[in-house]
Amino acid sequence: MARITGRTILIVGASSGIGAKVARLLASGGNRLVLTARRAPELASVAEEVRAAGSACLDLAADAVDPLAAAGVVTAAVAEYGSIDIALLNAGQGPDLRMDQVGVEDVARIMALNYDVVVNYLVPLIKQLGNQPAGGLIAHTNSLAGLMGLPRQGPYSAAKAAARTLIDAARVELAPRGIRFTSIHPGFVATDRISGDGLPKPFEISQERAARHVVRALEREPAQAYFPWATTTLVRTLRALPTPVSSRVLRRLAAG
Ligand SMILES: NC(=O)c1ccc[n+]([C@@H]2O[C@H](COP(=O)([O-])OP(=O)(O)OC[C@H]3O[C@@H](n4cnc5c(N)ncnc54)[C@H](OP(=O)(O)O)[C@@H]3O)[C@@H](O)[C@H]2O)c1
Repeated sequence: MARITGRTILIVGASSGIGAKVARLLASGGNRLVLTARRAPELASVAEEVRAAGSACLDLAADAVDPLAAAGVVTAAVAEYGSIDIALLNAGQGPDLRMDQVGVEDVARIMALNYDVVVNYLVPLIKQLGNQPAGGLIAHTNSLAGLMGLPRQGPYSAAKAAARTLIDAARVELAPRGIRFTSIHPGFVATDRISGDGLPKPFEISQERAARHVVRALEREPAQAYFPWATTTLVRTLRALPTPVSSRVLRRLAAG
């Protein structure tokens, strides 16, 4: 049972995977959830479960790549519930992509799906939360892949690193206005969309476990949250090693 109760929580990317599991975990807390993603039927079915578990829920199908659609979701959430206490920016996608096989448009698409989707919510949310007396929390589902350039995940790593940097700057600037920021960095999580892509996924964890980590981060609001321990240690070690050594290890890991 989540310790977060009686709050208005926006989850962007709530139709499947980690975001849907987080919504289900928060549903028992008598919260007001605003769920958004592109696939309306999947979203509606998560929203139905949330209502059945005792929280109010507004589900809004919208593409986070479209800035007007994202701003519209923030406006609709405030119109329905008056304010937003917590926003979890969770939309994103990290397909297996090799740099000798991608086109420029593939890299731009991954940037849009993992960076633009953050910017498009960050801007209207900062305006909204900055005007609320109690401010609010903006959390982002980043990735341990955002801490270093992972082979077969280069465009995704780059987009997540950019999002982390932007949020780091916003955290410092906006603390006086009561807006808190948490970047959440999962390792590999067994979600449907990436399960058959062939990318080796050392220390992969379940969606349920990942969602519990995310909810804990929403409760405690650290600037950065990392999990699971094993993948975090692996990435930290690789970052500390000389580049020729870490490159050799990464090449082996990516080969499976
Ligand atoms: N799975 C992993 O191993 C892993 C590891 C580290 C970090 N992450 C991060 O965790 C987050 C959640 O991913 P997941 O693994 O749970 O995969 P997922 O099941 O594919 O969830 C992604 C969610 O984002 C939504 N979404 C994607 N593009 C969107 C868009 N343009 N506009 C609105 N919503 C959009 C998807 O819904 P629709 O398709 O319906 O729009 C879905 O609800 C992502 O940011 C991902 O980068 C995942």
